[in-house]
Amino acid sequence: MKARIVTLPGDGVGPEVTAAAVAVLKTVAARYEHVFAFEEQLIGGIAIDATGEPLPAASLAACRSADAVLLGAVGGPKWSDPNAPVRPEQGLLALRAALGVYANLRPLQVHPALANLSPLKNEKLKNIDVLFVRELTGGAYFGAKTRSADVATDECRYTVAEIERVVRRAFELARGRRRHVTSVDKANVLETSRLWRSTVQRIAAEYPDVKLEHQLVDSMAMLLLTQPNRYDVVVTENLFGDILTDEAAALAGSLGLLPSASLGDGKAGLYEPIHGSAPDIAGQGVANPVGAILSAALLLRHSLGLETEAVAIESAVEQVLRHGPHSRDIGGHAGTGEVRDAVLAAIEDHADNAAAFFC
Ligand code: NAD
Ligand code: IPM
Ligand code: MN
Repeated sequence: MKARIVTLPGDGVGPEVTAAAVAVLKTVAARYEHVFAFEEQLIGGIAIDATGEPLPAASLAACRSADAVLLGAVGGPKWSDPNAPVRPEQGLLALRAALGVYANLRPLQVHPALANLSPLKNEKLKNIDVLFVRELTGGAYFGAKTRSADVATDECRYTVAEIERVVRRAFELARGRRRHVTSVDKANVLETSRLWRSTVQRIAAEYPDVKLEHQLVDSMAMLLLTQPNRYDVVVTENLFGDILTDEAAALAGSLGLLPSASLGDGKAGLYEPIHGSAPDIAGQGVANPVGAILSAALLLRHSLGLETEAVAIESAVEQVLRHGPHSRDIGGHAGTGEVRDAVLAAIEDHADNAAAFFC
């Protein structure tokens, strides 16, 4: 198959982990006889420095016409002055809104070889397999904002239509899994959460085969640590999903491990690791590329329909997490390039074994 993939490496470790994910996609293309054309564009702080805009028009136009978009990370101390007129993160938010990618899928699994890195006791880490579905284009991120010398506001706003579409997506995904949806809100306090909950209740009636439970976000933050293996699909609003998934990443052993897929009803999906630009380790060649590489696997699955190839990447990563080499954040000494090379070699092995099986 032929596909056009736009890459947005961004800031900090973004270019380091994106390069590793692109190398993986190139290996997959060569091995499985696909033609992927890559086009790199600017986003974030690097784009502000070059053009004054965090999402230049040329970047957005390229993303709109692409088959898929692979992003590294944006932001960093250089652009983080709270009084700065423009910030890198605005570029990412504008891109998500423009592409209409309202459903952000963030899968969490805990690899047994990394269980010792988790802050939880090992017995709590068995059978963790959670798919967070984070609403991505609404809520406090996108409501009206005001700021004066001594007061600031961020409006949190949700429409029924915005809630319905992401909740439906969560129920559909649950049907392909363990048929259990947990909806997280703060309906005891927030009006938006009460609209969220009543909408979820109504949509749930269309899915009688899927079990639904509601959880308030504060207790959910606790339950993720005490009973993480109870959850299957967790659907929630934008800000709650942002916070809960960084917490979830700690269970896996590192923020550097988790991928994401942002999907809408339009053409291009957006794929990015859930971590940020990691300014504390940027430029050292030590960032863990696994979150970015697994995001590339999600790209193949969700935007290009290449399930075999996605599984090849996931199996290769599984093997590398099992046997090493490991980057520093997960207790090893390997650099980004060593981890990338080990994944590339494991993809070749995986493809060889599959070919031998069919001979
Ligand atoms: P961060 O995710 O960048 O880093 C948090 C911690 O996790 C750091 O100690 C970092 O070294 C570590 N870490 C993150 N990714 C890693 C990786 N791949 N390998 C090894 N360790 C890794 O969060 P932060 O420091 O709070 O934010 C830094 C900047 O990143 C901010 O400007 C923020 O807005 C931005 N950010 C961007 C995105 C994105 O582009 N999607 C996501 C989150 C944060
Ligand atoms: C993420 C990040 C972003 C978010 C920021 C950088 C805008 O934290 O992708 O999780 O809050 O959505
Ligand atoms: Mn985040």
